[in-house]
Amino acid sequence: MDVGRIRKDFPLLERTTTDGRPLVYLDSAATSQKPRSVIEAEARFYEHTNANVRRGVYALSQEADDAFEAARGRVARFLHARSPSEIVFLRGTTEAINVVARSLGRSRLAKGDRVISTVMEHHSNIIPWHFLREDSGIDLEFVGVDDDGTLRLDELDRLLDKRTKVVTVTHVSNVLGTVNPIREIADRAHAVGALVFVDAAQSAPHLPIDVERLGADLLAFSGHKTLGPMGIGALWGRASLLAELPPALGGGEMIREVHLDRVSYAEAPAKFEAGTPNVGGAVGLAAALDYLEGIGWEEIAAHEHRLQELALRLAHETLEGEISIVGPESPADRVAVLAFWLRGAHPHDIASLLDARGICIRAGHHCAQPLMERLGVSALTRASPYIYNTEEEVRQLFDGLIEISRMFRPRPTSAARAS
Ligand code: ALA
Repeated sequence: MDVGRIRKDFPLLERTTTDGRPLVYLDSAATSQKPRSVIEAEARFYEHTNANVRRGVYALSQEADDAFEAARGRVARFLHARSPSEIVFLRGTTEAINVVARSLGRSRLAKGDRVISTVMEHHSNIIPWHFLREDSGIDLEFVGVDDDGTLRLDELDRLLDKRTKVVTVTHVSNVLGTVNPIREIADRAHAVGALVFVDAAQSAPHLPIDVERLGADLLAFSGHKTLGPMGIGALWGRASLLAELPPALGGGEMIREVHLDRVSYAEAPAKFEAGTPNVGGAVGLAAALDYLEGIGWEEIAAHEHRLQELALRLAHETLEGEISIVGPESPADRVAVLAFWLRGAHPHDIASLLDARGICIRAGHHCAQPLMERLGVSALTRASPYIYNTEEEVRQLFDGLIEISRMFRPRPTSAARAS
């Protein structure tokens, strides 16, 4: 993989910090940078094709419809879905989980029914289920995380029972980098008749997704972490399930008929797409998936493994005993999301000091407070490299961390010095 050539496709990577330093962008788990082809595809839609979809009888509106449906087909191929009608365009993974929880809450979940999630989830895959706990009295349970950053599947087995209606789990942790064994989880959940929802926000940028092989019933990912625009993402659902589930948001072209005393709904996916959809975003997302798959998953994985191995080696060689990177030790069990704790230094101080060197990383609870509690920390620092990052940038990160570590290392007191 020619990283130099790839970098040229990303206009933002050409810019410098306000004081003229090259920008080292290592926060792609928060949002990826966008290649020129994505920016241009979205701009071209607005320059050339823009009209509302599903409403117009004029030719321009039909062109917009065609562009929207072509993007849906592209996402279906990306996820290995059986049909484009299994793809619902929404703002992103967070909106998709809210839609799924609300739709299930309106149809399949009642007081005492059990939903199982995990301690390593992003808040987006916890809060919508808490809404159902608060409003409908569902029983919400969480599978724990082992010290090595893997899920406690023995706890899943203990929690799964006939009352369990949903198991909702992240494919990849946004903090630990752990790749979860979705097929195994899905098989166990299906054995008790539960549905399986997969949060693929952190896996879609790194791994090929095949919804059939994963054995999921519902899955969502976000465009903006996958080289695409912000404000667009997709929910995939099995056709039979989408046909049965009620809509969660109302308005726009999600209806068949509306009367003062009753309402009926369009078929999926329109049923779940209330309001004017982000058509330009969908077109940009399709261009992003073309770009990503144009590189190839094997190339992407090999590059990320190289960066990850370098980071783990530098951590070991230069900051042994000072740094602790959370998550599975073997690069084979994780993606390149490296959250760490550095002795004596608060993550926000680390982030600010790295920022002064032009290095962008994320610090804080990473929208995963239950996981922070499990790890016994209030915050972590996270570097998340991607296809456009170089080994040199990883070295620059560690040069910065070594200096910060020295800065915060406790100094001997004067009494100790005198003795
Ligand atoms: N969910 C994104 C992250 O982990 C924003 O940073």
